[in-house]
Amino acid sequence: MNLRLFAVTAPGLEPFAMRELAGLGIAAQAEAVDEGEEGGGVAFEGGLDALYRANLHLRTASRVLVRLGDFYAAGFPELRKKAARLPWESYLAPGGRLAVRVTCHKSKLYHSGAVAERIAAAAGDRLGKPPEAARFDESAPPLPQLVVVRLLHDHCTISVDSSGALLHRRGYRLETAKAPLRETLAAAMLFASGWAENPSAPLLDPFCGSGTIAIEAALMARRAAPGKQRRFAFMDWPGYDDARWQALLAQAAANERPAPGVIQASDRDAGAVRTAQANAERAGVAGEIQFDCRAVSGIQPPPGPGWVVTNPPYGVRISPGRDLRDLYAQFGNVLRAHCPGWELAMLCSTPYLAGHTRIRFERALPLLNGGMPVKLFVGRVGAQSD
Ligand SMILES: C[S@@+](CC[C@H](N)C(=O)[O-])C[C@H]1O[C@@H](n2cnc3c(N)ncnc32)[C@H](O)[C@@H]1O
Repeated sequence: MNLRLFAVTAPGLEPFAMRELAGLGIAAQAEAVDEGEEGGGVAFEGGLDALYRANLHLRTASRVLVRLGDFYAAGFPELRKKAARLPWESYLAPGGRLAVRVTCHKSKLYHSGAVAERIAAAAGDRLGKPPEAARFDESAPPLPQLVVVRLLHDHCTISVDSSGALLHRRGYRLETAKAPLRETLAAAMLFASGWAENPSAPLLDPFCGSGTIAIEAALMARRAAPGKQRRFAFMDWPGYDDARWQALLAQAAANERPAPGVIQASDRDAGAVRTAQANAERAGVAGEIQFDCRAVSGIQPPPGPGWVVTNPPYGVRISPGRDLRDLYAQFGNVLRAHCPGWELAMLCSTPYLAGHTRIRFERALPLLNGGMPVKLFVGRVGAQSD
C-alpha cells in the first residue's frame, strides 16, 4: 500500500526534516504550507513501514499526516458526498472518537465549524455509525483521532494524523526549568550547527536549563530513536501491525551505541541542573552527559575544538526588561578565552544582543521559539586577540 505522507514541521525546520528523511532512505519533497498553525512540512510517499519509521526516528518534525484524499468542493452536499468515499475504515473504528481541525482560505466554504461537522458526518456515512465528536487537547489523554482539513481555492485536502501528541513530546521531559526549548527545535539547532554530522566532537551547552539541547545531542550521538518511549495515534488504527512496530523498535535498539564524544551541560541554577539530570535519566542518556552547576564564567570545556550549541536567556521569557548586554559580552569573552576555534550556534532574539558577544556570525537562521521570532546565529569563535 503506497500512502501519501506529510511530515509537518515548525516554520524553518523543513530542510532538517527533509535531510532526516533522506537519512532514513526515504525520498522527500519540501512543501511550503502557508495555512494551519503548524507551518510547512515535507511531503513523501511510502507504506506503513515508512510511516512507522518516520514517527519513530524524525527529530525535527511535529507530526506525520497521511493524506486521505483531496477533491474540489464548493458546497456542503458535495463535500460530504466526496469525503464519504474516502477509506475512513483504515483509520477509525465505527463510533470512534474524532477531532476535526479545519482551515479555510479563499473558498466558498469558509465556515470551519460547519465543514468539520460535514467531514465527521461523511466518516459516519462510510463507517455506518457516526463518530463521537471530541476535542483534541494534548493535556487530556486519551486523545481522539485527529483529522486535518484544508480548504484552499475550493480544493479540499483531508489528512489523518498518525502521531497523536506532538512529536516533540518524546516522553522524557516531565520537568522543565525556565523557558524550555521544544525538543524539535533543539534537534534542528544541532543539525544547523554542523555538530550532528560530527557527533564524536565535544559539545557544550553552558546555559542548559532543563537540558534539552544536551539530551537531544546524546540521543543523536547514541543513534537512539527519539520516539522509542512513546505511543502514537497509529497504534489505535484498525489495521495497526504491532509485530511490524516491535520489529522496528528492535532494529532501532540494535543500532544504538555509546555516545562517542564528550557532552557537557551546565547552568548557574542548581534547580535547573537537577531537572536536566532527571530528564536525561528518563531519556536513558544520563551517563552520556557531564552536568555541572556553574555560571558561564566558570566553564571548563574539554579539549577541543568542538561545538557550543546554546540558548542563553534573551530577556523576554526570563527576566523581562533586564539588560542582558553584559551577559552576552561576558559570554563572548569566556568563549574567546576557553573555546578559541570552536563552532558556536546560539539562539537569540535580536542581532543587537547577539552582537554584544563580538563574535563574527556567518549565518543567522530565522526560526520560531514558542511562537516568537528568533534567530540561530552560527559562527566560529575567534582567539582572544581577535
Ligand atoms: C533560555 S534558558 C535555557 C533553556 C534550555 N535550553 C531548555 O531547553 O530548558 C537560559 C538558562 O540560562 C541560565 N543562565 C542565566 N544566566 C546564566 C549565567 N550567567 N551562567 C550560566 N547560566 C545562566 C538560566 O538559569 C536558564 O536556565
